Amino acid sequence: MAQALVEAVDLCKYFKTPKGLLHAVENVNFRIQEGKTLGVVGESGCGKSTLGRTVLRLHKATSGKVLYEGKDILSFSRSEMHNVHRNMQMIFQDPYSSLDPRMSIRALIGEPLSGLPRSERLSAAEEKEKVDAIMQMCGLPLHYANMYPHELDGGMRQRVGLARAMVLGPRFIVCDEPVSALDVSIQAQILNLLMDLQDEHKLSYMFITHDLAVVRHISDDIMVMYMGQVVEYAPSHMLFSSPMHPYTVALLNSIPTIDLSRRGRERITIHGEISSPVNPAPGCRFAPRCPYATEECRNEHKLVEVEKGHFAACTKGVK
Ligand SMILES: Nc1ncnc2c1ncn2[C@@H]1O[C@H](COP(=O)(O)OP(=O)(O)O)[C@@H](O)[C@H]1O
Ligand SMILES: [Mg+2]
Repeated sequence: MAQALVEAVDLCKYFKTPKGLLHAVENVNFRIQEGKTLGVVGESGCGKSTLGRTVLRLHKATSGKVLYEGKDILSFSRSEMHNVHRNMQMIFQDPYSSLDPRMSIRALIGEPLSGLPRSERLSAAEEKEKVDAIMQMCGLPLHYANMYPHELDGGMRQRVGLARAMVLGPRFIVCDEPVSALDVSIQAQILNLLMDLQDEHKLSYMFITHDLAVVRHISDDIMVMYMGQVVEYAPSHMLFSSPMHPYTVALLNSIPTIDLSRRGRERITIHGEISSPVNPAPGCRFAPRCPYATEECRNEHKLVEVEKGHFAACTKGVK
């Protein structure tokens, strides 16, 4: 198997809280090849953003490894990390909050260039040329260069966020709910842009969303998270055609655009109390809400390869 560009091995991130240790990300494993997209799906609060931030070392991992081109970046020094960060960028749901309102679009997109090592610094003319090229690449009309963030709509602001991420020539981008705040028609434009950029530059993405319908077309693989745990991880087509974990099935059932009647799949809806990610019990965290939970589920949570490339912590969602 080709070496993954980005890989996580037993990655954990716990937060200390007044009530105890909050297990936001528990034993997560994944591999993302060059030019591929891993979709990360789950309800709000299940640990998606924490996972993305931990992979980029914006959070300090509690344990586990993050490999970039096979090297564990969690052990890198600051200067080694500086080089890696050029290759690993992040875009957010609301680029507005990360864009300094006093800076012009040109200055915002050019800003990451100021952190380049002296030997790679650009002249003013070169920087202008570079920013112009990136704006074009991201579908930003050049006359926006002298405007300010508040003058742009959400879709254009997301393009500015993407341009800032693209200006250093990254190979991997964590896209954290980048279209969740946008109108549906604008969502499609941004998703198309992301896919075009991926094709042209062989980019790899971790695409985070609470909306399975959004990741379907953009993802090669999909990881479903529930309260910090990965419950299922599979190539996108397998996840949609043969979901195994009851939580995945429930999530699929909640997508209005999917035909619920096909193949007599039983409808699983979610009831019951939500357990807490603080000092959690062992076992599957979905168990308290799962209609099929047994004693075994409350004791153990382990992903098993149920068919080639398809990992599930449980197969009780299959009827
Ligand atoms: N800095 C933090 N300190 C303490 N708890 C946090 C912090 N960031 C996130 N959490 C908690 O971690 C869990 C996962 O949060 P998050 O990663 O933001 O979920 P998602 O992105 O899936 O909505 C939540 O219970 C959240 O309250
Ligand atoms: Mg989030």
